[in-house]
Amino acid sequence: MIDRKERIEEEKEEEQIIKAAEIIKGGGIVAFPTETVYGLGANAFDEKAVRKIFELKGRPQDNPLIVHICSLDDLNIVASNIPDKAYKLIERFWPGPLTLVLTRNPSVPDIVSSGLTTVAVRMPSHPVALKLIRYAGTPIAAPSANPSGKPSATKPEHIKHYFGEKVFIVEGQTEIGIESTVLDMTSDQVVILRPGGLELEKIREVLKEDIFIKTSDLPKSPGMKYPHYKPQLYFIVIGERRNISELKKLLKPKAKILYVATYDIPKDIKSELKKVYNIDFILAGSDEKEIARNFFDILITKSKGYDIMVFESVQEKGVGLGIMNRLKKAADIII
Ligand code: TXA
Ligand code: MG
Repeated sequence: MIDRKERIEEEKEEEQIIKAAEIIKGGGIVAFPTETVYGLGANAFDEKAVRKIFELKGRPQDNPLIVHICSLDDLNIVASNIPDKAYKLIERFWPGPLTLVLTRNPSVPDIVSSGLTTVAVRMPSHPVALKLIRYAGTPIAAPSANPSGKPSATKPEHIKHYFGEKVFIVEGQTEIGIESTVLDMTSDQVVILRPGGLELEKIREVLKEDIFIKTSDLPKSPGMKYPHYKPQLYFIVIGERRNISELKKLLKPKAKILYVATYDIPKDIKSELKKVYNIDFILAGSDEKEIARNFFDILITKSKGYDIMVFESVQEKGVGLGIMNRLKKAADIII
């Protein structure tokens, strides 16, 4: 049985989605939750509306957006020449945290794809996101809801922190905490452009072939060349060996430091550092999934009041590969 409080919550959510859909239809932009991170969305076929996203984010014009759809019927109005391999992945992983780069249908405005002949498409699994796309009656172009270069938003508070009252927010919870995995499906060899919420291991199982990992800076995924995920303090990533003597060289005794441990707080390190430094310790989570869920919240909200954050690395498997990808980009230094 649904109790009164839950019913009121549901009604509030429904009202917010209806209002957001109206804003999108009217050429505006809204922030909405997906199962990965919050998106900043506009009608993908409204060039002027999409331009507003680039302006609000301060996003370089050559960094294309992901088009979000709510049904497979929409796929063909966005992309063309879809290869069989892509359908295999779609069948298994959509709706979900997987973005496919496909040949662009010419009806999608240039601005969405920054003039590329390709388009990135994803069907999110979050019920609020799906409903919003359905009510708006159009695919929604949406990057992550953060100013360009900053950590992605996973909570309504993060959006308010970044944009104040400038954007209408549909409230809801994200789940995975890091963005979708992006795969380029436009050549014979499948290339992973961004590791993310969908584990590479699962993709390999379905494709039964090697996936090439794009590490070079040559921007096949234009987003790769820009600074990313930078928190507002000096950000040190410390490797599994926990090289404390190297770390000490970087820490200043007067600085306020937050040490973010993964899996467990190392007691010996804690007592050694506490003797010399103004340092607090927190645990990011007890497994990769929990660390991913908390990741951007730690970067955005826990950095307040500190000068330096030290973040421990995680193993590069499962969603850990996506966490490490973001840690490396956010880092001022990796030791
Ligand atoms: O989980 C997600 O993917 C979130 C939610 C809101 O769906 N969105 C997201 O969007 O992370 P954004 O814009 O922050 O990241 C999209 C990435 C960028 O690195 C961009 O360069 C790449 O996808 N991308 C978009 N279109 C592309 C294309 N046609 N070819 C290659 N890369 C593309
Ligand atoms: Mg982003």
